[in-house]
Amino acid sequence: MPPEMDDVVNLCKRRGFVFPSAEIYGGFRSTYDYGPLGVLMLRNVKDAWWRTMVQLRDDVVGLDAAILSSPRIWAASGHLTTFTDPLVDCRNCKERWRADHLEPDPEDGAVHCPNCGSTDLTEPRSFNLMFKTYVGPVEDDASVAYLRPETAQGQFVNFLNVLQTSRKRPPFGIAQIGKSFRNEITPGNFVFRTREFEQMELEFFVPPSEADRWFEYWCRERLEWYVKLGIPQDQLRLRPHAQEELSHYSSATADVEFSFPWGWGELEGIANRTDFDLRAHAEASGERLDYLDQTTGERYVPYVIEPAAGATRTMMAFLIAAYDTDEIGGEPRTVLRLDHRLAPYQVAVLPLSRKDTLVPTAREVLGLLQPLVMCDYDETQSIGRRYRRQDEIGTPLCVTIDFDTLDDREVTIRDRDTTQQSRVPIDKLVEEIKGRLVL
Ligand code: GAP
Repeated sequence: MPPEMDDVVNLCKRRGFVFPSAEIYGGFRSTYDYGPLGVLMLRNVKDAWWRTMVQLRDDVVGLDAAILSSPRIWAASGHLTTFTDPLVDCRNCKERWRADHLEPDPEDGAVHCPNCGSTDLTEPRSFNLMFKTYVGPVEDDASVAYLRPETAQGQFVNFLNVLQTSRKRPPFGIAQIGKSFRNEITPGNFVFRTREFEQMELEFFVPPSEADRWFEYWCRERLEWYVKLGIPQDQLRLRPHAQEELSHYSSATADVEFSFPWGWGELEGIANRTDFDLRAHAEASGERLDYLDQTTGERYVPYVIEPAAGATRTMMAFLIAAYDTDEIGGEPRTVLRLDHRLAPYQVAVLPLSRKDTLVPTAREVLGLLQPLVMCDYDETQSIGRRYRRQDEIGTPLCVTIDFDTLDDREVTIRDRDTTQQSRVPIDKLVEEIKGRLVL
């Protein structure tokens, strides 16, 4: 049974994963802040992606491009003209809607405003999703700039720089993680669709004749990534786009979708962007963005296979998939069964009591583990309540220091999922934790 969305949203707020932004001012239009636990988990999601996509490969390098850059990028990429949603206005209540999200009423066949029910709607008009700003002190046409709506263009405009400095040649990829901004008309479903979000995008440059093969390869790899990090296979699917759904740059796209409490939703799109972007930027900039294969003498514009994921949206999917409730000793508990690589804390160090006698040893244990993993330290409330709190925030292991520890220098390790406990000498604790968390 998937959890209710409200349960997950409440847990996020109550435990400090995600807060509505500017809450003391009443919030700010579907923007969110990542709290002490959220910032750890989001970082873990991004690290897990970077590890798989960059660290464990020899054919991918990283990049961190500017968010503000030349508006010529967006003219060449097609975003200025085609990155739009069709909008209609309700003349009665003045609300604005995405035309493609409105369905005709089955009874009268008319399209009604979802807010007031009026049928007095304007014709659809194109609305560009990029946030516009001005660079420098003068607000005129010459100083217009845009916040990037995707990280991907950074990879395309740096293609030559990377090719010349990294000693890579196709097939090779450039990976980037960073913030993107879209003036979404209908943000919602918590952090699923927001106006400011983080993306994790790989642009993988291949010889055109190999594009289909690499597209299939990346579809398989990306689906597997989510499974390996704990999302059950039956809550995921790969959905190929129909021809009419394809973006202006794509010849084939498949989405990795997750079964959210409200239905299937996209986590990541894998697209064959062909040579669209490199050709567009070559033409607009006058630079030659191609590759000369020294062995065959062939010169070609590489095709690009792009697995493009959302970090914030993916973190939410991991939270929903991990959310569980069960009973321990007749007591209900909420537990986040997060993979240890994604959990905010891997270990909680808990002295049984706040008494001065236990604290020095607990702090000694904390000092041993902190260089290894992210640790929480908590000495207040009963040990049972502290275990429940750690279960609810997904901490895989608790290490408890009790009065016996002072005599035998052994601590108790408690497992989140089984709640089983075992005693381990402090001398062997680092090895034990490494073994259990497969570090
Ligand atoms: N470079 C291709 C590209 O940006 P996209 O499908 O528009 O493709 C990729 O975006 C991923 O970014 C999506 O699958 C989603 O996870 C995330 N994403 C897109 N818009 C988002 C939004 N408004 N809020 C949160 N995540 C978003």
